[in-house]
Amino acid sequence: MSTLGTIGLVNGGGDAPGLNAVTRAVVRTTYYQYGGKVLGSFDGFDGFLWPEKSKELTPRDVRGILPRGGTILGTSSRGNPFRYKVLEDGQLVEHDYSQLAIDNMKKMGVEALVVVGGDGTQRIALDLHRRGVALVGVPKTIDNDLSATDVTFGFDTALHTVTDAIDKLHTTGESHGRVMILEVMGRDAGWIALHGGVAGGAEIILIPEIPFRIEQILARIVARKAAGHRFSVVVVAEGCSVQDDDPFWLAHKASPQFIEKKSIGNLLGALIPLAGNHEVRVTVLGHLQRGGSPSPFDRLLGTRLGVAAVDLVAQKQFGRMVCLKGDTISSCTLEEAVGRMKTVPADCDTVRAARAIGISFGAD
Ligand code: F6P
Repeated sequence: MSTLGTIGLVNGGGDAPGLNAVTRAVVRTTYYQYGGKVLGSFDGFDGFLWPEKSKELTPRDVRGILPRGGTILGTSSRGNPFRYKVLEDGQLVEHDYSQLAIDNMKKMGVEALVVVGGDGTQRIALDLHRRGVALVGVPKTIDNDLSATDVTFGFDTALHTVTDAIDKLHTTGESHGRVMILEVMGRDAGWIALHGGVAGGAEIILIPEIPFRIEQILARIVARKAAGHRFSVVVVAEGCSVQDDDPFWLAHKASPQFIEKKSIGNLLGALIPLAGNHEVRVTVLGHLQRGGSPSPFDRLLGTRLGVAAVDLVAQKQFGRMVCLKGDTISSCTLEEAVGRMKTVPADCDTVRAARAIGISFGAD
């Protein structure tokens, strides 16, 4: 078995349940299998901009972190070393600190990086690799919108949170005979809304990939009432949009209450009562979907990906990202990993299955 020196470990972008499983696997594999060390960088790449924000992680340091959500390393959505934002005289100014980070890695004896993050973080990894940094990527996002891997850790735990929320909204919505709107995360891809909505038994699921018509939502609510159902549950991804020519939206968009930017869930919550006697309540689930203890699936996937990343470092297969293909851990180039977002195909089997059981997507 080859031996390793010091591996740098970076978490970038939004946090996700399972990040600590990756950290624990990287540390334990590096120590136990390769006799190497791990240097954790706090808050994204900050540990390589300010070395005092880095720390050696030993197996003792990762004891008990498997069930913990979040990340013991901290992460950042604003820590791109190529475009680092610094507040100067009240203004956010961007600086290219990439060479400083690269120089510090060398001074700190880091022979390779493991970079854990979503699309934006993997793009940073690719740029660093093109500047000669030896590194391996690990995909991470609750959105599950990375095309190079079948699923990302964090997604399954988010689905548990969303499904539980829908179950709870069913009971209160039924008690009052209301339309319950749940806004979930997913700016560009509707995987959380689609899978959570089906798992939770929502009647209407709105996703960014299928712009909707308000009249179709209203028609489904009215039809349910006519069929004797007192309530409806609508799951809407935050990145959804109304169809441009939607007459109902065109008739109301100019009214003052719709001028200021509303969350799509709150927008729907304000529009639906205008169409009839519908009592509506809106819940924006927000960062609850990013929190909590990782599910067994995410702990296992995070562990498998962390081990595979260290193996790639040991094999000096740099510039690659580990990924899940079917039931097997594999890898791809970072070029393949970034730039192609995985959005929901409107004709995928889960959308077809949802329609088959009567779920509306607000657009025929
Ligand atoms: O990309 C993951 C994600 O949770 C998105 O679903 C969400 O829109 C975004 O991050 C929120 O980012 P932040 O935590 O920076 O507010």
